[in-house]
Amino acid sequence: MSHGAAPKPATASRSENLKGTVTIPGDKSISHRSFMFGGLASGETRITGLLEGEDVINTGRAMSAMGAKIRKDGDTWIINGTGNGALLAPDAPLDFGNAGTGCRLTMGLVGVYDFASTFIGDASLSSRPMGRVLNPLREMGVQVEASAGDKLPVTLKGPRTPAPITYRVPMASAQVKSAVLLAGLNTPGITTVIEPVMTRDHTEKMLAGFGAALSVETDAEGVRTIRLEGRGKLVGQTIAVPGDPSSTAFPLVAAILVPGSDITIRNVLMNPTRTGLILTLQDMGADIEILEPRLAGGEDVADLRVRHAELKGVTVPEERAPSMIDEYPILAIAAAFARGETIMNGLEELRVKESDRLSAVANGLKLNGVECVEGEASLTVTGRPDGKGYGTPKGASVRTHLDHRIAMSFLVMGLAAEHPVTVDDATMIATSFPEFMDLMTGLGARISTDS
Ligand code: S3P
Repeated sequence: MSHGAAPKPATASRSENLKGTVTIPGDKSISHRSFMFGGLASGETRITGLLEGEDVINTGRAMSAMGAKIRKDGDTWIINGTGNGALLAPDAPLDFGNAGTGCRLTMGLVGVYDFASTFIGDASLSSRPMGRVLNPLREMGVQVEASAGDKLPVTLKGPRTPAPITYRVPMASAQVKSAVLLAGLNTPGITTVIEPVMTRDHTEKMLAGFGAALSVETDAEGVRTIRLEGRGKLVGQTIAVPGDPSSTAFPLVAAILVPGSDITIRNVLMNPTRTGLILTLQDMGADIEILEPRLAGGEDVADLRVRHAELKGVTVPEERAPSMIDEYPILAIAAAFARGETIMNGLEELRVKESDRLSAVANGLKLNGVECVEGEASLTVTGRPDGKGYGTPKGASVRTHLDHRIAMSFLVMGLAAEHPVTVDDATMIATSFPEFMDLMTGLGARISTDS
């Protein structure tokens, strides 16, 4: 996996006329949850369109290590789950590689069991805060052994009878919400999560689909109260995973920035908790046509036709952040080519992603000649539509810090910059979007890995 793999730099150069129709691989959030819930439910779960990135494969391995039977037949992943409450003790540490979602959700899922489970990951994951998940688990009676600052490696051991809690999520985080709910699956009584700011709702929707007794109430201020009755039965499902809007963001912004482009991206998940980038790009003047909006497996899905357009800077509404939290790096690239200033606020969560994305983006922009100001939780970018003077100085490269979205964002920048843009490592793109290079070059993008 990405542990210790030799870094492979890559370079993107000014391109013209991106053209074609592409289908984006499956959504990462839904893919993780498909493996987890399928691995837990009784009976058979069949999944098509699963993202086969390293992050998701690691979640599949963890579920296998805890008793799920997982195999692939043609395009379909077939899982025979253990039954809720019947995971087995893993006999080795669970290695989640680069994946915060796999790791944090599984901590909730298995942490409350009356046996020990150990969690490890790569250098990026090992530097990320786990206290946000460990604290509610402690309240439920879980014993935690963790490295200083509640970092990996972590060992959890649940009590014989976990205590149901009411937990108000202190930051906008779908991972924290989900970890508590998943812990609630093996806890007697009602586990309640209060979510002051709505984040992606895949856990709630999918658990209900698997048969969990779960209710959601939203008050006049938009505060959501999610109640889950523990120790109920989950039953295997058939799932078609829609295309990942966070991966879509890269060809989408590339087509907007590269003159002469006209591309169509098919089968994109349009769940409103995930579409903040599209709204923001439309505010900036992007030409994005939403074709054939439809429902597929309980989710909104559409095709997107995207043509080149000149952008103008905007102030991004702060309350939109949770619906585009993974998209700020690529939005910052779009902003670098927009006329005027783009102001992004409320970005504190970016500091604890696969890298400190706020500083990784600001440093990369500066290296490539873009004017920007990094605040504690904000970024202001002053753009230049012609990309004149942009590019990586000879012998230098953008530092990606094991972060796939930093690598892909700056490679997109290189397609519209005057001079080529080089990133120091492209190997970790495989964690979320292994098809990225082929898909982009197939549209006409000039990207190559350096030999
Ligand atoms: C995810 C939640 C988000 C997001 C991550 C996927 C999920 O993380 O950044 O890529 O699938 O629940 P946070 O919960 O830390 O915001």
